[in-house]
Amino acid sequence: WFANIPMGEKDPIFGILDAFLNDTNPSKVNLSIGIFRTDDNKPFVLECVRKAEKIIISKNLDKEYCVLLGGSPAFQKHNLDYTLGPDCEYNQPGRNICFQSLSGCGALSMVSQFLSRFFPGRKVVYMSDPTWPNHANVLESMGLETAYHRYYDAETVSLDFCGMMEDIHKIPKRSMILFQSIAHNPTGFDPTPEQWNEIAEEVKKRKLYAIVDNAYQGFASGDSDKDAQSFRILAKHRVKFALCNSFSKSLGLYGERIGSIIFLTDSQDEVQRIYTQFIPLTRANYQNPPLHGRRIVEEVFTNPELSKIWKKEVVMMAGQLKNVRQLLVQNLKEAGSKRNWDFFTTQIGMFSYTGLSPQQIERLSKEFHIYMLRCGRLAIPGLTTKNVAYVAKCLHKVTSE
Ligand code: LMR
Repeated sequence: WFANIPMGEKDPIFGILDAFLNDTNPSKVNLSIGIFRTDDNKPFVLECVRKAEKIIISKNLDKEYCVLLGGSPAFQKHNLDYTLGPDCEYNQPGRNICFQSLSGCGALSMVSQFLSRFFPGRKVVYMSDPTWPNHANVLESMGLETAYHRYYDAETVSLDFCGMMEDIHKIPKRSMILFQSIAHNPTGFDPTPEQWNEIAEEVKKRKLYAIVDNAYQGFASGDSDKDAQSFRILAKHRVKFALCNSFSKSLGLYGERIGSIIFLTDSQDEVQRIYTQFIPLTRANYQNPPLHGRRIVEEVFTNPELSKIWKKEVVMMAGQLKNVRQLLVQNLKEAGSKRNWDFFTTQIGMFSYTGLSPQQIERLSKEFHIYMLRCGRLAIPGLTTKNVAYVAKCLHKVTSE
């Protein structure tokens, strides 16, 4: 049946990760994927997660289906408080509906399926150029069209806010727009709160529906309220959105696939309509939400001791990323580079957009066994105090010769 289907392309992120894993050189460095690691480059499981798992095991819980197809009420309540904040006008009955999801990507995929069936306007989603390499794949696979607005100025290596606003202004009314809430992937540049206010005004004027990809809340600054400002501002302006939350990064639960979806609504009737249409989609996709990741999140949210540990750990992770960013700039100077690398420290979160050419990136992998994305994205968590000098030396080499 499939002998003649076209051969697919390698995934832009996991394809590079494969190449890294197949490289046997001991000095190889993986700057391809956004996974936080220890300074010894070892996988990191948060202490609050380890403790939560011990508590869960001690409760001797069963493994039956989660009959609440949207996830448990405690999980939903804590998600709402964590994301929208307790004072948000949408954080009350009738003004939202929350579902457990298979992390951020699973949230996006379910929201896209829902919108592709029920969105009453143009089924076109505008996104930043560039954006996470998987966004278009998820949205288009679920039947939505995609289009782009300007976001990044390669010349000045900064956010192209004017270009972004000009483009948003031209988006046909009643379309959709996808935002990243914080720590923009791949550029590392975000609008300021003042700029988010302007964006919200324009989105309201254009009558756009927003999808907000919230993959790094808490992870960017170490403060989960600060990192939630973008969509809290949208909510203040009464921009309606579907929020796609991930606990992959903030709780280090990458492989557990746990996150949530929050739709903002106007009435209990709308809540019921969304709920009754969303549940058949859940049944079609994965039947019931998985248990383990949700139990961990619930335990960390509801146990004050674990919540306290989590807060500290998020600050630690954000701090480690900021520290290696500074070290990289310092080591580039020490390696003799005369280029301006300050963007490494003005960008935030897991990624840096370096402006390196595909040729330079290929040289980095072929000659120096350093792997990053072809688009020029460098994943900061792959840098450690041990390899940063080597990476800096090689970056200087490929940008100066
Ligand atoms: C990344 O962008 O590196 C991560 O979000 C991992 C992924 O699945 O793409």
